[in-house]
Amino acid sequence: MNITDRVVVVTGGASGIGAAMARRFAKEKPSGLIVADLDVAAAEKVASEIGATPLHVDVADPDSNDRLIDDTEDRFGPVDLFCANAGIGFAGDEQTAPERWDFMWQVNVMSHVHAARRLLPGWLARGDGYFLSTASAAGLLTNLKAAQYSVTEHAAVAFAEWLAITYGDQGIKVSCLCPMGVKTPLLDSADEFHALLDPLAIEPGEVADTVVAGLSEEHFLILPHSDVSQFFQNKANDYDRWIGGMKRLQRTVFPT
Ligand SMILES: NC(=O)c1ccc[n+]([C@@H]2O[C@H](COP(=O)([O-])OP(=O)(O)OC[C@H]3O[C@@H](n4cnc5c(N)ncnc54)[C@H](O)[C@@H]3O)[C@@H](O)[C@H]2O)c1
Repeated sequence: MNITDRVVVVTGGASGIGAAMARRFAKEKPSGLIVADLDVAAAEKVASEIGATPLHVDVADPDSNDRLIDDTEDRFGPVDLFCANAGIGFAGDEQTAPERWDFMWQVNVMSHVHAARRLLPGWLARGDGYFLSTASAAGLLTNLKAAQYSVTEHAAVAFAEWLAITYGDQGIKVSCLCPMGVKTPLLDSADEFHALLDPLAIEPGEVADTVVAGLSEEHFLILPHSDVSQFFQNKANDYDRWIGGMKRLQRTVFPT
């Protein structure tokens, strides 16, 4: 997909990867560009820099998602590209309270389902529509010390795959963005993220460039870190060996 003259929505557009994507998309001259976020003041700041439209959304709330898409359509017409990018991260394990698991599930996974539920009927009627899911390399591999993040990102990848397979023959396109560390405020959510991800972390602008290239080629997987493809193949080729390697990495980064 070429972004020019398209209507594009970016959730989590006020910060990090979402803001970088919005800035990069703006250069392609879309006909409508929505910077949507829970943090409206920050969304307004990014939008005003690039001539985009800021809108409030709580992606975990289905009604709020519906309002975002209704508002976008009222202003610019049907959404061509929806970037389900808003997400949260924190460290945790099996002892983490069930409410925290549910919170991350709603923000990182159900938000994609809510958006797809609202978008798909119109897209199927038009035979056109592009869903970009921001998941994570944690959804293909794992994120040490972050059980909720690993599980929800796997689920986000699974939902994107399912959409691509189910509706691909009806004109619906899906890409799944799976970066490793990116230098954004999300990394500050946990010291464990910095310890694990800082060594290979890249700038959000690099991610945005990879996204525009990936969208133009309409690849399912968009991998800003080229190593992820190899790690993912290693996992598929020999799961036990891959788990052994991850255990070694854990002993190195988080010695007890
Ligand atoms: N930073 C990384 O290392 C990294 C790596 C892989 C994947 N990701 C994914 O990239 C996406 C963006 O993360 P980021 O690193 O740019 O983080 P970030 O914290 O810089 O930005 C996330 C944005 O999402 C918004 N947001 C959070 N909850 C929301 C909600 N309920 N409704 C609407 N907006 C909400 C925040 O206000 C913020 O503006 C996330 O889905 C994250 O899982 C990040």
